[in-house]
Amino acid sequence: MSYHVLYISSSSKPEEFSTSKQVGRYMIQQLLQKHPDAIVEELDLYTSNIPMFNYKLFSSRATLPTPEEYEKLSDEEKQQIKRINELCDQFLRADRYIITAPMWSLFFPAILKQYLDCIIIQGKLIDISQKNVKGLLDDVERKMVYIQSSGGTYPLVLSWKLNQGAKYLEEIFGFVGISSFKKVLVEGVDSIDITKEQVMQYAKEDVDHLLKRF
Ligand SMILES: Cc1cc2nc3c(=O)[nH]c(=O)nc-3n(C[C@H](O)[C@H](O)[C@H](O)COP(=O)(O)O)c2cc1C
Repeated sequence: MSYHVLYISSSSKPEEFSTSKQVGRYMIQQLLQKHPDAIVEELDLYTSNIPMFNYKLFSSRATLPTPEEYEKLSDEEKQQIKRINELCDQFLRADRYIITAPMWSLFFPAILKQYLDCIIIQGKLIDISQKNVKGLLDDVERKMVYIQSSGGTYPLVLSWKLNQGAKYLEEIFGFVGISSFKKVLVEGVDSIDITKEQVMQYAKEDVDHLLKRF
């Protein structure tokens, strides 16, 4: 079976300075060794066009404009709709997802949330009926790994409370229908108690372990 991987990164740093991106790159390299025929698409959120959802870009809750509303948009707004559709289609093409992020103020960077608002759209990832909202991604088996690097380390008892970003992503992607969500926590990157090499070594071991079932 050939995998279609979407690799989404959200650190503002170039890869040579970013721990989360370096662990993400390691995962892609290992995955390609195991599955040389895998298709990998990459989306660096900081260097890509991720539209800000201004009020004209949706007609109602997470729903893109109707054809009549679309015709009234400016050329720039039409381009943004086109881009949102491209981002949704790119997400739907994949069946394996690797998301990397630094922990920022106990969450992930805002650009990742902006991206989620662009893709969790009526008729694409969700179906909104009058009574409820249903995820649409349970048509095929999809799996996600979230790699988060943080300056500090968080003991297990506090981890569930303080890792807000990981918790939120697990919930929202579970809701849209992604059946498996695993995380790699690259902790202590800015700590004096552990070297960066050791932090990377632990993270790579976690990645190797997860790849057995990815
Ligand atoms: C704006 C900002 C907020 C941060 N907030 C946290 C935080 O809440 N907890 C933490 O442990 N580290 C925090 N850090 C440190 C980063 O998570 C850490 O340096 C991480 O390894 C960066 O990943 P990157 O190299 O992939 O960008 C923060 C860093 C920045 C720039």
